[in-house]
Amino acid sequence: MPFTENDLPNLQGRHVVVTGANSGIGLEAARALAGAGAHVVLACRSRDKGERAMAEIRLATPKANLTLESLDLASLDSIRGFAERMSTALPSIDVLVNNAGIMAIPRTTTADGFEMQMGTNHLGHFALTGRLLPLLLAAPSSRVVNVSSLGHRFVHRVKLDDLHATRGYQKWIVYCRTKLANLLFTFELQRRFEAARKSTIAVACHPGFSNTNLQFVGPRLEGSKLMEAVMRWNNTYLAQSAREGALPTLYAATASDVRGGEYFGPNGLFEIRGTPTRAHVARPARDPEAARALFELSERETGVRYDFHAPAPSVHLS
Ligand SMILES: NC(=O)c1ccc[n+]([C@@H]2O[C@H](COP(=O)([O-])OP(=O)(O)OC[C@H]3O[C@@H](n4cnc5c(N)ncnc54)[C@H](OP(=O)(O)O)[C@@H]3O)[C@@H](O)[C@H]2O)c1
Repeated sequence: MPFTENDLPNLQGRHVVVTGANSGIGLEAARALAGAGAHVVLACRSRDKGERAMAEIRLATPKANLTLESLDLASLDSIRGFAERMSTALPSIDVLVNNAGIMAIPRTTTADGFEMQMGTNHLGHFALTGRLLPLLLAAPSSRVVNVSSLGHRFVHRVKLDDLHATRGYQKWIVYCRTKLANLLFTFELQRRFEAARKSTIAVACHPGFSNTNLQFVGPRLEGSKLMEAVMRWNNTYLAQSAREGALPTLYAATASDVRGGEYFGPNGLFEIRGTPTRAHVARPARDPEAARALFELSERETGVRYDFHAPAPSVHLS
């Protein structure tokens, strides 16, 4: 039987954090998780958009247990502040969905000087996960769900000697490298959970090709009406809906047969659309040496060290 939102387990009492929860896949995942009873923290960079997202979710689930929190993944300060607030507000985190992302934008940098796509899609989530680690480890069998992409297949490596693409920036190649980084991070994190004998798992997913805002951000920043029109046509005629695209995320976040280090995507032709199944992992994503090196570089870049034995924060009620 194909997996649908109706297959979500009862999530009452579970705390779930979704980054980029105001739009596209993140909004659909947050809505479904809240509908299944979870307390969902919507981690958004825009308060206005976050409030509109909460109102939309409450249309479907009037009693949804939602918290809106500011998080800008393009700022290590913002990430630290978010994690500090979480550690006083929550006893633990059952699922962290590292979903937020940007695609193929002109080269800019984050508050910390990171190239924006790598800084947001990979390094921001790397820093966030490391800072939330005590809360994740405080929940039995908690999950880190990283949202990657079919795009990871189009590159051979993450350039560790030029992570911020200072030489010859190519916006699509850099995006694909960030999505390869998402998978390398997932598999290395899973190895480290296992080595530390923790029940927390790291898994990944991708939404195939889904009709969201992702495709329009780059053309709008470039002021290209033509590319915006091309993207709109593609999204209208080729993509599946954001709701369908969120299913692999929901499966990875909640299904009982999910194991650490697995990767889920749509089951249709070329994994572009369909219901969740185990997805193809390209060979460069399965390189443990590349994954270890990226993990260590990410610790140095962000200044966030992963401590798998840190005590759980003493707290709190949500
Ligand atoms: N749609 C697809 O076909 C597709 C395919 C493969 C992979 N993906 C992946 O799916 C994930 C979700 O994307 P989507 O398609 O749902 O796109 P989307 O509708 O554009 O949503 C992206 C979300 O990320 C947020 N975001 C961007 N930069 C951020 C930052 N610095 N700090 C915090 N939040 C930030 C956005 O916030 P704002 O609204 O404020 O900009 C938005 O909430 C991404 O990781 C993407 O790479 C999507």
